[in-house]
Amino acid sequence: MTKKTVKTKLRPLVAGNWKMNGTGADMKQVRALVKTLSGNHRYACDTMICPPATLLSRLAALRTSLKASRKLALGGQDCHAAVSGAHTGDVSAEMLKEAGASAVIVGHSERRSDHGETDKQVKAKVEAAHRAGLTAIMCIGESLKQRKAGDTLKVVGKQLRGSLPDGCTASNTVIAYEPVWAIGSGLTPTVEQVAQVHLALRKALQRRFGEAGSTMRILYGGSVKPSNADELMAVPHVNGALVGGASLTARDFSGILAAYKA
Ligand code: 13P
Repeated sequence: MTKKTVKTKLRPLVAGNWKMNGTGADMKQVRALVKTLSGNHRYACDTMICPPATLLSRLAALRTSLKASRKLALGGQDCHAAVSGAHTGDVSAEMLKEAGASAVIVGHSERRSDHGETDKQVKAKVEAAHRAGLTAIMCIGESLKQRKAGDTLKVVGKQLRGSLPDGCTASNTVIAYEPVWAIGSGLTPTVEQVAQVHLALRKALQRRFGEAGSTMRILYGGSVKPSNADELMAVPHVNGALVGGASLTARDFSGILAAYKA
């Protein structure tokens, strides 16, 4: 079977969310990834790694030394809504920016569940990202219980409305649809299920933000791996992926990028 490469109007983004994984020893994965990105193959997508905050400035320096600043973007995994202050353990969007990030993930379901983050708090974090000049990668997604109850569109619609401030544009905001039950489980929704949600999100973004809503990227996340990336990335209104486990090695991550091989 000949491999079909995915063609889409919007330039897709494939972002790796390392979550609480990665120490200095794992920087070699980024080195290897940059080698792939600098090799003979061309990928028609933007590529980003969101490492733990402890590695951001080290990876930014590595990227500079490899002359790969344009090839690989870096992002944070969360930020506090404030610029600075008495918030032990937190990191501000401005700090991430200074460390080399151009984006930050906000409202990931693990933050929503582990830290009880609400749509209102996530919205404040999106505003913080914009204030600092970062692109907010805002995550939404339904639980298995909500999907089984037939509430998926209602749930993600509410999260989308509640978690996005006014003034979102295609350059300062990316949406990531990540069904909670698909994260780290090896399970993925069918392409029809992904298509249904992404179309609903596209329409909701257009209603709220007009033209900007047509060009804002909507990523799919949840058990994306080299073997299912082609199929998932070909779904209408899927403009890239937010990848967890499979972003930890250059080999797997490159296998996902291959869906966009030019
Ligand atoms: P997995 O790719 O490991 O399922 O994680 C998805 C995710 O949560 C990315 O943010």
